[in-house]
Amino acid sequence: MIKDPSVSLIASSSHRILCNLSLYYPYPTPNQALTPTNRFYRDYHVKCAPPSPQLHKEVLKEEMKKDDVYVKPFDRIDAFAFDEQVADVFENMITRSVPGYGHFLELIGLVAERFSQPGSRCYDLGCSLGASTLMLRRHVPANCHVVGVDNSAAMVERCRANIQRDHSGATIEIREEDLKDTPITNASVVVLNFTLQFIAPDDRPRVLKNIAAGMIPGGALVLAEKIAFEDEREATFMTDLHHDFKRYQGYSDLEIAQKRAALENVLVPDSLATHRARLLSAGFETVYEMSRSLNFTSLICVR
Ligand SMILES: C[S@@+](CC[C@H](N)C(=O)[O-])C[C@H]1O[C@@H](n2cnc3c(N)ncnc32)[C@H](O)[C@@H]1O
Repeated sequence: MIKDPSVSLIASSSHRILCNLSLYYPYPTPNQALTPTNRFYRDYHVKCAPPSPQLHKEVLKEEMKKDDVYVKPFDRIDAFAFDEQVADVFENMITRSVPGYGHFLELIGLVAERFSQPGSRCYDLGCSLGASTLMLRRHVPANCHVVGVDNSAAMVERCRANIQRDHSGATIEIREEDLKDTPITNASVVVLNFTLQFIAPDDRPRVLKNIAAGMIPGGALVLAEKIAFEDEREATFMTDLHHDFKRYQGYSDLEIAQKRAALENVLVPDSLATHRARLLSAGFETVYEMSRSLNFTSLICVR
């Protein structure tokens, strides 16, 4: 095993954890035969997915605008929407609202490295500004085709501008459409990074069946979601900790309360048991939890 001193230079803590982990995998020495496993870790180590803040500097070049959407008191709280105002501050909003967002993005890179297949298509459904799309694109073979989908015109406009600054090999298209209508074909990797929770619960089984049916055998879906808990005490406990996290990120109690009211009936989380049962019945063979951060999880679902 090799210890790499350059790891100490890496600033992001989640990135550091991932790199440290990779040090203890069988990283091949120059004379060692490359097994699929150590080739995977060597390649991952060499490419080492950039953490979210660096992605901002390289690709999402605009200065991250601070999320002030719920700063002032409202007489009436409208339902949350991915409109111009939200799209304008979205990177800052999601980074400060989802504990471990950068780490969840890195997992997309990791899965794309292992599961993407040459000549296949890779989809990012609910791509927003393109952070998850670019993580996908940077870790798939150059002869893959990446498809980002979002039904918010404000998000799609900014996403298209962002991907102009990325020069990875795979071809890419960003479609403005409802992901419920997106045909999925020849897919080796599909990403739903905090998107399914915004789809009406009744439509979720159909969306997952459509994805599973369009995937090639051995392909993988990454499903990251906010989750609900069946146990009330656990639910309260996790919600309290999540609100602590948001306070720590600089959100006021008023901002937290107003956003929570706006998301009521818009972001509808499911329990882990519901996710698992629905994914298995959609046609996925294996469903594993890759990572959990308070009430946010990332699942890998293999076809
Ligand atoms: C929380 S954001 C996703 C974040 C993004 N995947 C990332 O990692 O940065 C959810 C996105 O899903 C999009 N969305 C919600 N419902 C959709 C639908 N029916 N079809 C397409 N996009 C949808 C929203 O416009 C929003 O941009």
